[in-house]
Amino acid sequence: MLFRNVFIAIFIGAALVVAALLVNHQRPTIEVQQPSAEFVRASGKCAECHLRETAAVVHQYSLSRHASVNMNCIDCHRPVEGQQGIEHRGFTIAKSLTAANCRQCHPTEYDQFVRSRHGAPAWAAVTGAEDFTEEQIAAAEKYHPGAVKRGANQLALLEGPGAREKGCMACHNIGKPNPDGTIGTCTQCHARHQTSVALARSPQTCGQCHMGPDHSQLEIFNESKHGVLFAAGRDQMNLHARPKELTTDDMSVPTCATCHMSGLEGMNVTHDTTERLSYWLFAAVSDKRPTYEQGRNKMQELCLKCHTRPSIDRFYAEAETVVETTNQKVIKAKELMDKLYAENLLTKESFDEPIEFVYFDLWHYYGRTAKHGAFMGGADFVQWHGNYELLAKQIELEHMAAELRAAKHE
Ligand code: HEC
Ligand code: HEC
Ligand code: HEC
Ligand code: HEC
Ligand code: HEC
Ligand code: HEC
Ligand code: HEC
Ligand code: HEC
Repeated sequence: MLFRNVFIAIFIGAALVVAALLVNHQRPTIEVQQPSAEFVRASGKCAECHLRETAAVVHQYSLSRHASVNMNCIDCHRPVEGQQGIEHRGFTIAKSLTAANCRQCHPTEYDQFVRSRHGAPAWAAVTGAEDFTEEQIAAAEKYHPGAVKRGANQLALLEGPGAREKGCMACHNIGKPNPDGTIGTCTQCHARHQTSVALARSPQTCGQCHMGPDHSQLEIFNESKHGVLFAAGRDQMNLHARPKELTTDDMSVPTCATCHMSGLEGMNVTHDTTERLSYWLFAAVSDKRPTYEQGRNKMQELCLKCHTRPSIDRFYAEAETVVETTNQKVIKAKELMDKLYAENLLTKESFDEPIEFVYFDLWHYYGRTAKHGAFMGGADFVQWHGNYELLAKQIELEHMAAELRAAKHE
């Protein structure tokens, strides 16, 4: 009898423990893993509530380097000069955060960033100069003449609101001026709370904007030997390595960030993505940049961490040939168009006649794609998405021009 009672007691006890475990398992993990007192202190009380309100935010923050150096939520969220503060549960926080909040602690990165085309030129490419102050225009024009002092983009106006905001601006807002006087946002590449260099080194991060037929950088990278090796070997790489200590041991193949920004093996980390470039490849006809020599040397210094001089010289010579031959093809098409305008066979307005779209596609899609493909290892983009289309569109232009002339003489 006694034996039976003990057995029942043990059985009930065990069942209760199992039940308790099960119930506990059902509870959201945020309630199980209460933050340590130290973490709550470090996050300035905010995390106490936000673990219930927006647990994901606190979790993302806890993964960041900021959390490991004991930064506070309020360090970012407090209003800085020029920002409007709002009362929030006993704290004053900024109504919205911008690059100004990051600049307080990272002035060098900010200065490099605003000097690049990710700064004012990116926004001006859509809206023109109207949203910038005189000082901002002068500062940007010093590095990128004509890139900010220009009119609003015609195509965006034709497509109208909606398309302009959710399309053009959603990528070009990387350089949008903020009410507090700063320009742009840092979180497009780092995210708000993870503020991660690993994220910024992922090709998909740049590919949010650098993709599609007019700037197929992500697609080109994916096709390149670098992209293929990166995808296959990603798990073995240390994408979290500190930028100033990054070696080819951490990343044996480059991503977008490595070539355009990283401080690989003693090189300077740069947030000026213009620094390592030698041509204006996005232009219809690509000229050398005034900083051609410097840009090419800096990029080649990077290639030479992993390749030999002869192979890089060969690579650049071939890519430059693609720039030259593409320029010739675009100039030929442009001369055809100029003649049609001179003969009054076309109106002065852009994008109101079919042939203008064919010409635009010719340089804006296929010309650019051929040049980008040549410099980043995308053979298919140099050929089938590039030169083949350049040829086909040229023939189409010639036929359309002949038809316009024939129609005039009828
Ligand atoms: C007493 C609980 C509590 C505390 C403490 C608290 N928050 Fe909140 N917070 C909330 C709630 C609830 C929301 C959801 C929106 C609302 O009701 O205001 C919120 C919303 C927010 C938002 C979004 C505001 C918006 O307009 O979308 C931010 C940013 C924020 N909190 C940051 C902070 C920061 C930073 C701290 C610490 C300085 C903090 N919170 C402290 C409860 C709290
Ligand atoms: C590195 C700077 C930084 C730190 C540290 C930081 N935040 Fe934020 N947080 C941001 C930025 C940037 C935004 C976007 C704000 C905006 O668009 O105006 C944001 C947005 C938010 C939002 C709104 C999220 C949404 O999608 O609606 C909440 C809530 C928030 N933060 C809470 C916190 C809490 C809680 C902490 C601390 C655990 C914290 N933040 C730490 C930079 C930071
Ligand atoms: C209160 C000062 C402060 C603010 C505000 C701040 N940071 Fe930091 N940040 C730091 C410190 C300190 C480190 C660690 C530096 C180190 O260890 O060398 C850091 C590191 C970083 C790193 C490197 C992370 C890594 O994994 O190595 C990035 C990226 C970064 N911050 C981005 C941002 C962004 C983006 C913002 C604004 C949304 C911001 N920071 C706001 C102080 C700040
Ligand atoms: C998917 C993101 C994305 C969208 C949407 C987008 N762009 Fe861009 N745009 C870019 C990127 C990335 C570049 C840089 C290309 C390069 O340098 O090779 C660029 C380059 C440009 C340039 C050439 C650079 C310059 O400063 O003159 C202009 C002009 C431009 N975009 C205007 C627009 C307009 C207008 C729209 C909408 C009709 C638009 N873009 C939509 C991402 C985008
Ligand atoms: C939010 C969208 C966005 C993201 C994310 C983005 N870019 Fe850009 N990028 C742009 C736009 C828009 C331009 C074109 C600016 C202009 O010339 O008007 C541009 C231009 C560039 C240029 C050409 C600069 C020049 O002088 O012509 C390089 C190189 C570049 N980006 C590299 C990168 C790399 C590398 C990453 C990722 C680490 C990245 N971008 C992430 C939008 C973006
Ligand atoms: C175009 C994408 C992009 C943008 C926009 C961007 N970053 Fe970065 N950032 C990176 C990359 C990539 C790295 C890592 C570089 C490397 O691999 O060496 C980095 C590294 C950093 C670091 C660590 C630097 C070091 O030497 O340890 C800080 C701090 C930082 N960024 C802050 C910022 C701030 C502040 C802004 C806004 C003014 C910003 N970033 C905007 C891509 C970006
Ligand atoms: C192996 C190094 C390497 C990698 C990886 C790489 N690029 Fe490039 N990129 C280059 C070189 C070289 C050029 C041509 C530079 C010049 O003008 O001298 C270039 C040109 C560009 C341009 C053209 C700027 C213009 O003038 O129109 C953009 C934008 C760009 N890259 C973005 C990216 C993005 C986004 C990725 C990843 C999806 C990427 N790159 C991957 C080396 C690289
Ligand atoms: C971090 C190291 C690293 C950097 C930096 C780097 N590459 Fe590479 N690259 C590689 C690796 C690894 C391969 C694959 C080699 C193999 O097939 O084993 C490769 C392959 C190539 C290939 C195809 C194979 C070949 O040799 O024909 C070309 C072309 C190339 N890289 C050009 C460049 C150029 C140009 C730059 C600079 C803009 C550059 N790489 C920067 C690591 C790098």
